[in-house]
Amino acid sequence: MRVHIADHPLITHKLTVLRDKATPSPVFRQLVEELVTLLAYEATRDVRVDKVVVDTPVAPYNGVKLARPRPIIIPVLRAGLGMLEGMTKLLPTAEVGFLGIKRNEETLEPYTYANRLPDDLTGRQVFIIDPMLATGGTLIDSIDYVFERGATDVTCVCLLGAPEGLAAVEAHVAGKDVKVVLGALDEKLNEKGYIVPGLGDAGDRLYGVAQ
Ligand code: URA
Repeated sequence: MRVHIADHPLITHKLTVLRDKATPSPVFRQLVEELVTLLAYEATRDVRVDKVVVDTPVAPYNGVKLARPRPIIIPVLRAGLGMLEGMTKLLPTAEVGFLGIKRNEETLEPYTYANRLPDDLTGRQVFIIDPMLATGGTLIDSIDYVFERGATDVTCVCLLGAPEGLAAVEAHVAGKDVKVVLGALDEKLNEKGYIVPGLGDAGDRLYGVAQ
């Protein structure tokens, strides 16, 4: 597994405002979008392209265009939805699928409650977006889900990660072609499975408390 942890003052600045509990939802949403666009730049470093020749007003130019089949972006509901706009800004022609995975707040075990994805992901570059890599359970389930559908090239984009979760994902995917791009790697998980210092419940901060 390849891991990239962002090291950029603009990303740390925006994450600092996100972490602040006084930051209201509209500002939080805007910042998530901006952060994802910055992280997507790194996440799409290996996006597949085909060669193409265009004519500039002066001369032919040997360039590239995004290859087919189109990449697919999969936000993990609900918090991943807050990252979708930032990701599609950089990959406007990508297809979008949805995966609903929730964790049981007592056992911290994830379960899938919804999915809207093509059955066959063979040959597709897959970008899974989920703000918090906490225990790693949700990300592991999501990765398994897309590998079962034939994907072989998966990039996960998360705003924050915990060392425990990152290690769990790494152990699970072993030799598979998986890349994880993080805005920051935090200190640890607390006993409730929250990232410390983290930013709290990403879904609640984006959309308000779900009943
Ligand atoms: N999910 C969140 O929203 N926040 C955490 O800190 C951990 C998991």
